[in-house]
This record gives sequence, C-alpha cells and structure tokens, in this order.
Amino acid sequence: MALCSDVRFLMRKIRDLRCFTSRGHRVKGKWATSRPKYPPTTLALQHFDVTYSSQLGHLWPSVRVALLSERKYGALLNNFSLNDVEEDLASQGCRDFVTDTDRKEHVSMEQDPEVEFSETSDSTSVEQRDTFGQHQLSQPHLSPTIKCFVFPRGDITRFKPARPDSSGLLGYYLMDAASVLPCLALDVHAGHNLLDLCAAPGGKTLALLQTQAIRFLCLNDSSISRTSRLKKVLQSYLPKELLTREKLRITSFDGTKWGEIEQNTFDRVLVDVPCTTDRHSLMEDDNNIFSKSRTGERRGLPQLQLQLLLAGVVAACPGGEIVYSTCTLSHIQNVGVVEQAIHLARENHGIHLKVVDLRPLAHMFRNTFHFASDVQLGELVIPHLAANFGPIYLCKLKRLS
Ligand SMILES: C[S@@+](CC[C@H](N)C(=O)[O-])C[C@H]1O[C@@H](n2cnc3c(N)ncnc32)[C@H](O)[C@@H]1O
Repeated sequence: MALCSDVRFLMRKIRDLRCFTSRGHRVKGKWATSRPKYPPTTLALQHFDVTYSSQLGHLWPSVRVALLSERKYGALLNNFSLNDVEEDLASQGCRDFVTDTDRKEHVSMEQDPEVEFSETSDSTSVEQRDTFGQHQLSQPHLSPTIKCFVFPRGDITRFKPARPDSSGLLGYYLMDAASVLPCLALDVHAGHNLLDLCAAPGGKTLALLQTQAIRFLCLNDSSISRTSRLKKVLQSYLPKELLTREKLRITSFDGTKWGEIEQNTFDRVLVDVPCTTDRHSLMEDDNNIFSKSRTGERRGLPQLQLQLLLAGVVAACPGGEIVYSTCTLSHIQNVGVVEQAIHLARENHGIHLKVVDLRPLAHMFRNTFHFASDVQLGELVIPHLAANFGPIYLCKLKRLS
C-alpha cells in the first residue's frame, strides 16, 4: 500500500514539473517529426470513401461498416487429417456451405445484351431455354470433396484453433470462406495439370488439393519468404507422399514472366493476384499498401495484375480455364483488368477467350454470401454485417484458341 502511494506521489510530481518546463525546453520525440500526418489505415479509408461511394452508391455505407468490423472465417476441412472434425464442427452449429445448398434448383435470368464479353454455356454450366425464352442455367459441377464450414448468418462465433491428428496434420484451415469460391469455380477434374501463379500463403492451394484430382500442381510466388510460409502450411496439412517432386513443384519466379517459360501447358490456372487487400488495408498499419512509401507500388497494381493474368492465360492450354481473383472491391483491379486482358490476349498473342458465366455459382451460394448485383464480368462477394466475408472478386476465362 505504502509503495503504491509513493509511486502515485512521484507521478504527480513529474506531472507538476512538466507544467513548469517551458515548451522550448521540452525534448520532442523523434516520432513527432517523422510520424506521417495520417496512418496508412486512415489513408485507405479516405481512398475507399471516394472511390467506393461512387462505385457502390447507396451500398457503400453498409459495406464500409462491415469492412471495419471483425471479419468472419470459414474452416476449410482437411481431408488428409485423421481427426474427425466434421462431427465436432457440426455439433458447434456450423455447416458446410459447399454441400449444404439446394443444387436441384434452376436459375432463371434474362440475358443482358449489353454485356460485351459475357457468354453462357460451358463445361461448368449447361444452358437451356424455357418457354418464355429466358435462359435456364443448371447448377455448376462442383468438387464434392471441398468442404468449408461456416457459422450461420449473424453468428459471429470464432473457430477454435485446429488440432493436429496422430501424424501431426491439422484438421482444418481457417480462411475467408469466400476465398473457396475461386477454387470451386476452377472446377478441377481428375488428371488435370494445375498452375497456382501467386500461391502463398496457400489457403487456395489447400482447397484445390482437397479435390484429390490433380495430376501435377505448380505452385509459384515471387516472394521467397512467403513461399517458405507456403511450404510450412503444406507440411502442416498434407501427408509426405503428396509433397514429392512428381506431384508438386514450388517456385519463386516473377509470375509475369511465366508465359515466357511455359506456354500452352496447364488445364487449369489460378491467378490470385496481389491487390489493395481492402480489409487488411483498413485494419493494419504494418505492411500497408496505402503507406506513403508504397504509393508507386499501389498505383502499379492494375498493370502488375494485368501482366500476371496474361501470363496465366498464355500458360494455360487451348481449351484450358483460368480463374482470376482478388480481395478488393476495386472495379479497376477487377473488371478493368479482365477487360484489358481479354483484349491484349487477342491482340498480342492471338488467344481468344470466353468469359464463363458464374451466375449459377453465385445463385447457388446466395444464402451464404452477398454478391454484388451489377458486376459486368465475373462475380463479387461484398462484405455484409450478417455474413462478413469478402471482398472476393472472381472471373473465369476459357481459352478458345
Ligand atoms: C493475394 S496473395 C495470394 C494468396 C494465395 N493465393 C492464398 O490463397 O493464400 C498474392 C500473392 O502474390 C504474390 N506476388 C506478388 N507479385 C508477384 C509476381 N510478380 N509473381 C508472382 N507472385 C507475386 C505475393 O507475394 C502474394 O503472396
């Protein structure tokens, strides 16, 4: 007790002394001069307020609140783990959003003649016309082995950390559940060769591997430190037999140059590009793309994304399919990049691309995610307080030549 009151007394004295020290004699901390006027998170919010209020209109205030609130996770089930976590997750009130959907229901929608590149009918969705001339799109084919558990809408319970099984493999991987959508859209079939051009830290790679259908998987990420993280993730989730050179190749190349190394090769290519990572940019000042020192890098993102997507297109084989994805709401980084890639693939490489209609996929998962209604190309999951996933943008392209 006596010690406490002594400390309080000393603190009071120090405060009193500060009052008598003239401003000119106070030592200014170094930070006072070097600290930027606004932290990167504030700069990000200012930037989003300007761009997204015009892009999303009346939706922006609710999306803004969701982005500034705690995000929701999904638990991607690891089929290679011996732990029976499915039952445990179900007993906690979670459900696998991939299988828990009405697949029989047909989607009916008018074709929009204004959509320049949009086409219907492909390997993942079968087009039919009903008696009113509307397009009936049957449900897409999805891998039944990708499972991702989520808590119900409005339930913000957090998942417990995954536990290792007897051989050390973890039962699930926590990620934004909407990040599973690009992997589902990629529609991997048995015997496919796959390229994951920007793979680290590996959430989507893990989802793709759950299909157990891939013949050969090329994983690449230009960042050496992030590639090491990817390797650690794979070791925590996959049995050693899968981590062999016959099945898997991990590289740290600049993905924009991939087309120069390997062309017309892969059945499926995932191009999950670096972007403004909207949620991270609003939450973390560390490593923030809106920090002043990274302004050039941020402004160069659409160009880098375009080069990566084009490299992915060139690496795919004729008839092969490419999924482009980001975790930003930005129209320029999403639709803008895809439009330019379609144009440049034709002009510079003589490659004709078809945009695969993902509306059946969005319709199928409309009870789990909120999809933006007016995206010209691809689908966009927008954050919502009751289902705080995303933002995730995905667009699927098929090489016709
Ligand atoms: C959105 S993250 C990928 C996330 C990953 N697909 C996942 O699901 O965990 C984008 C990645 O692109 C990588 N990257 C940035 N520039 C690249 C380039 N020129 N070539 C290849 N990868 C690049 C970054 O290091 C980063 O890991």
